Amino acid sequence: MTATAPLPESSLGVPAGFRFGAATAAYQIEGAAREDGRGESIWDRFSRLPGAVVNGDTGDVACDHYHRWAADLDLMVSLGLESYRFSIAWPRVQPEGRGPLNRRGVAWYRRLVEGCLERGIEPVATLYHWDLPQARQEAGGWAVRDTALRFAEYADLMAAELGDVVEGWITHNEPWVVAILGHAVGRKAPGVRDWPTALGVAHHLLVSHGLAVDALRARVKTPVGITLNLNPMRPLRPGDEEAAERMDAHQNRWFLDPVLRGTYPVELLEHYTSVFGPLPLINPEDLDVISRPLDFLGVNYYNPTFVRASDEAPLQAETAVPRGRTTAMGWPVDAEGLYELLLRLRADYGELPIWITENGAAFDDETLVDGVVEDPSRVAYLSEHLSALRRAIAAGVDVRRYHAWSLLDNFEWEHGYDKRFGIVRVDYETQERIVKRSALWYRDHIASVRGRRT
Ligand code: FCB
Repeated sequence: MTATAPLPESSLGVPAGFRFGAATAAYQIEGAAREDGRGESIWDRFSRLPGAVVNGDTGDVACDHYHRWAADLDLMVSLGLESYRFSIAWPRVQPEGRGPLNRRGVAWYRRLVEGCLERGIEPVATLYHWDLPQARQEAGGWAVRDTALRFAEYADLMAAELGDVVEGWITHNEPWVVAILGHAVGRKAPGVRDWPTALGVAHHLLVSHGLAVDALRARVKTPVGITLNLNPMRPLRPGDEEAAERMDAHQNRWFLDPVLRGTYPVELLEHYTSVFGPLPLINPEDLDVISRPLDFLGVNYYNPTFVRASDEAPLQAETAVPRGRTTAMGWPVDAEGLYELLLRLRADYGELPIWITENGAAFDDETLVDGVVEDPSRVAYLSEHLSALRRAIAAGVDVRRYHAWSLLDNFEWEHGYDKRFGIVRVDYETQERIVKRSALWYRDHIASVRGRRT
């Protein structure tokens, strides 16, 4: 199997080697939850808890991508997409999260990845997009260090099985969400509500990232990175600046600093210690592991966050209802935040290449007209964010990928199928894919950057 061909160098406004693509995640689209030997994940379990997910939705069938992957890749070709960021479901390839591989699961990912290469699409694999094997949860989950060691083994196995065909590796997707929303707030799987546990989980996720980088590097030469969800923090009112700083340290720097500088933010470490007691889980040598050099930083950007001071919250800061235009998620629409974030990353963390691994929006205002879903709000969102991205590139930030979230409407975690992020609509009754105007707009945008007609 040959590697994806290089792209033309003469493209407008993006550097040589830049790729436009789309992102998805296994549990959100694959379905086939009990097929071909797949093991149970924490999301299979969590989505069945009464009240955990809107309408009691689950990922059992989702977009049926497991059976429709070839047509979905053809759809990407028709849109001119150049890169596909997907995730590997750990319980599909190693049902217990340790021990023998499930050959049928591995074979499925091999077909998917080879299918990308055959179509000239770069395959980028995320190892962990939130679907821990339930057996690992029962052994303590991310709250125990052993899970980090198991994750490194899984990374090694995937590099051995797929390292000759996958063209980019992402260890984790949004460890903040896994740690805080999964273990402090309890809104996502596994639904734990305990801050000290969540801080231990965050640390083990980061250790597992570093161990996985070592495991991948031992076998592959392709780019390796991690994806963080980063939000510029905006004080709601004068006087909320300190709260916004703390929220920035909590959500952004708690992950950026250890990964890229080998240190935790000292002032927040002190704050956590004063509120929750000492954090005994951090061994001094861990930070060397966590800060292994990377080839890129994956950035998921959706919106800035408004923050206000609060006496009740453990952080003494809380997020506030945004001002201005918002999406169906209630998230502000603010492309300037992306520009700001990219410039800040370069100023504070240096020249590391950046891949935008997710950016997109859910809207309710979609209507079907002559076979196309008209979604003007999403067209505006994408076009504003892509122009902010181009401005950041022109200002010298080294951005090399843009993956729209998401190729398809899908299972939006605790919101079930209610929130639609796709540039392609999915009719869940028939599994029909119906392009939205935003997909056609994106296709035309890519073509014009590449100097092609559509
Ligand atoms: C991100 C997740 C992704 C999707 C988008 C909307 O936090 O990585 O799976 O849910 O948000």
